[in-house]
Amino acid sequence: MKTAIIAALAGALTAVPASAAPESLHHRGQMDQQRQRRAAESIQAGAVFSTVSDDITSITGTFRVPDPFAPTAGPTSANADRATFAVSIYVSLGGLAGEASASACANTTSTLRAGVDVFWDGISGIVTAPFAWYQFGTPAENTAFGYAGFGVAGGDLVRITATAAGTGNPTILIENYGPDAKVAAGATPRESAPPTYGVGDNLGASLCKSEASWIVEAYWLDEQPRVPVALANFTDVTFTELAVKTKSGKTGDATGAKLVEINLAAQGGQLTKTAASAASLQVKRVLGGA
Ligand SMILES: *[C@@H]1O[C@H](CO)[C@@H](O)[C@H](O)[C@H]1NC(C)=O
Ligand SMILES: *[C@@H]1O[C@H](CO)[C@@H](O)[C@H](O)[C@H]1NC(C)=O
Repeated sequence: MKTAIIAALAGALTAVPASAAPESLHHRGQMDQQRQRRAAESIQAGAVFSTVSDDITSITGTFRVPDPFAPTAGPTSANADRATFAVSIYVSLGGLAGEASASACANTTSTLRAGVDVFWDGISGIVTAPFAWYQFGTPAENTAFGYAGFGVAGGDLVRITATAAGTGNPTILIENYGPDAKVAAGATPRESAPPTYGVGDNLGASLCKSEASWIVEAYWLDEQPRVPVALANFTDVTFTELAVKTKSGKTGDATGAKLVEINLAAQGGQLTKTAASAASLQVKRVLGGA
């Protein structure tokens, strides 16, 4: 309901109908009661930056949208011609604690994040259009929206910035610099979508400002029993322009962050290999950790 109301008021920002993005929005809502059963599992790879007694005021991350494929090895490859394979790449201020999440934010606090989901449709054997979204709220809220009219394709350079500086409302910005290898982020973006409706009003003081992250995720599907999406094989995801700033004036990158891996027994164990330097954070798709 809340989602529908926000969508109606959002003007240019429209909640993506379930038919357009069947699995992309539902997973970002309520965590269920199965956390303990899957406690050793992890749906997230990447880097989680945390502070103690200091508020994070902004996080930036830039990445090229990867190309997805069906896995050719591992348990999910048997469904290569039947399933949708996907991977979600996003930048987050705060986190959604809960099932198989790397976030340590209290589950009463909010996240502010944006990203891109990419899909391999095994039934048709094609890459379907990637899809850019943003999300805010607590784990109990379902407040994910597609960026209506924001085009994004494999190879595009995307930059995401979330800010929560000063007393103003938090903001999130996504920019697309397109596929040209010679165009760097920071030039005039081909497209830019700053959604403001709902973000400030709904986050209020609840945003978890002790955590920020650059994440590659096998998100939860809204199915019973609840399972993570079959993780696509994908070309390496490399985040650059990694920058976290804090209220006390500290800056950080992925080298000061906790690295995490996607680990899903039913899909073949450790499915990513993450490596960080000051300049970049790379997430490779692997199988069984190798
Ligand atoms: C992913 O694709 C790469 C490149 O084709 C291949 O080497 C690798 O084995 C694939 N991994 C899986 C799990 O299918
Ligand atoms: C929220 O966290 C508390 C304390 O860690 C836990 O008892 C509760 O089950 C969690 N609720 C949800 C919806 O995850």
